[in-house]
Amino acid sequence: MDKLIIEGNGPLRGQIQISGSKNAALPILLATILVDGEVCLSNVPQLRDIDTTIRLLGLLGCRAERDAGDVRIHSCDLKPEAPYDLVRTMRASVLCLGPLLARLGQAKVSLPGGCAIGARPVDLHLRGLEQMGAVFELEQGDIVGHCDRLRGAHIHLDFPTVGGTEHLIMAACLAEGETILENAAREPEIQDLAEFLNACGARISGHGSSVIRIQGVSALHACTYRVMPDRIEAGTYLIAAGITKGRLELLDCPVDALDAVIFKLREMGMHIESRQNMVCASADGPLRCVDISTRPYPGFPTDMQAQIMALMACSQGAGVVTEGIFENRFMHVQELCRLGANITLSGQTALVRGVNTLKGATVMASDLRASACLVLAGLAATGRTDVRRIYHLDRGYEHMEVKLAAVGARIHREQE
Ligand code: EPZ
Repeated sequence: MDKLIIEGNGPLRGQIQISGSKNAALPILLATILVDGEVCLSNVPQLRDIDTTIRLLGLLGCRAERDAGDVRIHSCDLKPEAPYDLVRTMRASVLCLGPLLARLGQAKVSLPGGCAIGARPVDLHLRGLEQMGAVFELEQGDIVGHCDRLRGAHIHLDFPTVGGTEHLIMAACLAEGETILENAAREPEIQDLAEFLNACGARISGHGSSVIRIQGVSALHACTYRVMPDRIEAGTYLIAAGITKGRLELLDCPVDALDAVIFKLREMGMHIESRQNMVCASADGPLRCVDISTRPYPGFPTDMQAQIMALMACSQGAGVVTEGIFENRFMHVQELCRLGANITLSGQTALVRGVNTLKGATVMASDLRASACLVLAGLAATGRTDVRRIYHLDRGYEHMEVKLAAVGARIHREQE
């Protein structure tokens, strides 16, 4: 296993290129199962989860070729079974269930277990697919489903689930008739998926709002598509500028998808300006803690909760962080306290009292965004910080230590 060694080294300055979005690329890759022809994707980030997804598509009978950020997929010889070992390592694989049912009328996909941040059930996915005519059984941990042709349905989601919305949009594209999704998630990645599918001939409208309509079509054709930039990676580097009192320019930054984050960082005292798709973030004076509540988009994103907590940990005053999406997304708190942070937990809220300085130590990453939080804290801490188990980080951040070192961070990777 690898670790990152970070020496607090003062303000970061320079430009960082934002990569393609992991959480847009994953569903778009799986949606290629629906397409009869060769799809050419660009701006696909080079991440472990993307590699896992491409491997899964290969096992499902697709021809998949990758050249850096370009990926070509042809679902030429589809098989209905997704192996446990792959779904176990990446929960988003379950999204292949709906597309396989839509194309083949059958599917066998391992039921994803929980993960570090919560139970993460997929009951809303399955209930929606059942409303569209799918029938499921659970056999030794696998979801075994079959259907004639999926048919459009009027579905009301109990919760605006991101994956559930994506799953049902994909299945509805080839269903017979119209599907209406109410209380749908509004995340930008869902909009990107819908734009990709419409480029393939789907008939989706309302994406980005909480009511999405999909008119089923008989087939989807090949297309070429560029994946949107990653708003969570961009938000993470905005905080890197703030926590080191530096100045960073982020290139290809999806500023319109970052309103809630930018609003809060400005409230803390950061200077953030945007020109076209370049954003400049800086902090020269002390920053102030604020209150944060994570909510479905357009609320403050749960995927930025750990990162902004690192910033608050070394800001002035105190703030309350409420995690409103996942039941166990505070595992970074104890690790931040090892760096000298003053944070107390009570259920789904964390009270952060800012301290003047964090002090380097060895800390352990527990999940993807917790890893990013600890790297950010290490950039600000005095002395050396070792962040262990950074395979979590490699799932969602393309060459993070390379990008940070290029703007002045003293950071490098070592084998444990
Ligand atoms: C997506 O996960 C993202 N992953 C997550 O990002 C992100 O944190 C999450 O959306 C929320 O924004 C990808 O896009 C690959 P949900 P997803 O379904 O789809 C409950 C990262 O760091 N729920 O919106 O799994 C669930 O338990 C990752 O990049 C049900 O109860 O999120 C959770 O409490 C982490 N039943 C809440 O909804 C269901 O059927 C949100 O889950 C589905 C969800």
